[in-house]
Amino acid sequence: MESPVWKVLRQESRDTVTIDLFRYDPTKEAKPRREAHEIPFCKGMSILHVLKYVHDNIDDSLAFRYSCENELCGLCGVFVNGKPVLACREELISNPTVIDPLPGFPVIRDLAVDTSRLEGKMEQLFFGIHKPKKEVSRMLPLSAIHANNMTACIECHICDTVCNAAKFSSEKFVQPEGIVKLINFLPFPCNRKEKEAIYERLYYCTLCWECTEVCPRDVQITDFVLALRNFATKKGYFPAPFKRIVKSLFVTGHEFPFTGFTSKLRGQLCLSEKPQLAINVPQALEEVQRLMKLVGASHLLESTEVKD
Ligand code: SF4
Ligand code: SF4
Ligand code: FES
Repeated sequence: MESPVWKVLRQESRDTVTIDLFRYDPTKEAKPRREAHEIPFCKGMSILHVLKYVHDNIDDSLAFRYSCENELCGLCGVFVNGKPVLACREELISNPTVIDPLPGFPVIRDLAVDTSRLEGKMEQLFFGIHKPKKEVSRMLPLSAIHANNMTACIECHICDTVCNAAKFSSEKFVQPEGIVKLINFLPFPCNRKEKEAIYERLYYCTLCWECTEVCPRDVQITDFVLALRNFATKKGYFPAPFKRIVKSLFVTGHEFPFTGFTSKLRGQLCLSEKPQLAINVPQALEEVQRLMKLVGASHLLESTEVKD
């Protein structure tokens, strides 16, 4: 029997929308295919409504995931017109609308993807960090907003699909979702070797803010990266390449050293031979050095011992 919801939708809709769907069953098909459907449109429809409409009225073999329908379970992530979204949160606004599975994960069927590799990676990352039952005093120094915000994550994996650092640093990076989990775990005891390995992974992030922009729960992931790096630095962990950058900034007023090689390259690019470095303006360089001393950045140049 037809659901009364779809009956009302058909009666009320004055328009139709074309849905361009990704379809693929790796157990039966050699490669993915696309399928277009014309469906009735009503203002306020979500992408999840679209998928359910196709499933209930056109093809009940369409596979996709959802549970709460209320932005809480994190299961309904899909790619809509090239953007990762929660299907239950995203409104249907474009015609045609192109729907794909979340990229970067193996397809189980159609829009359902296998996230077990990422989950396994997270498990491995947190193996060895033991959250004590009674300890409440070892929170990272976060603002109240951030502290509330860190529990908002629903593990939807949407942030992981846009992170270029995660794509290119492969297994080494903790991924944005891992950063959100780390903020809960890092202040708790694990052995020094494990902690250093975690600190190292933080520095793969390029601070591009893409993850923060797409997060449907407004989790301030990039702020957490900065908080964790500050925490790691205070514990004495500051990787050598970053140390070189700070040193160059302190000595020349510029992050990257200016050499004959860069001068030659600049010439080839029709730029002036010398960049406008603070080193060319003594007062500017003094000001950079004064500021770096003021914020304590110059101390990073001194060799430090990593504390547990
Ligand atoms: S941080 Fe945001 S985008 Fe990433 S998994 Fe959590 S809720 Fe999803
Ligand atoms: S800010 Fe960092 S963690 Fe977020 S997407 Fe960019 S590189 Fe990835
Ligand atoms: S169905 Fe649960 S978050 Fe969308």
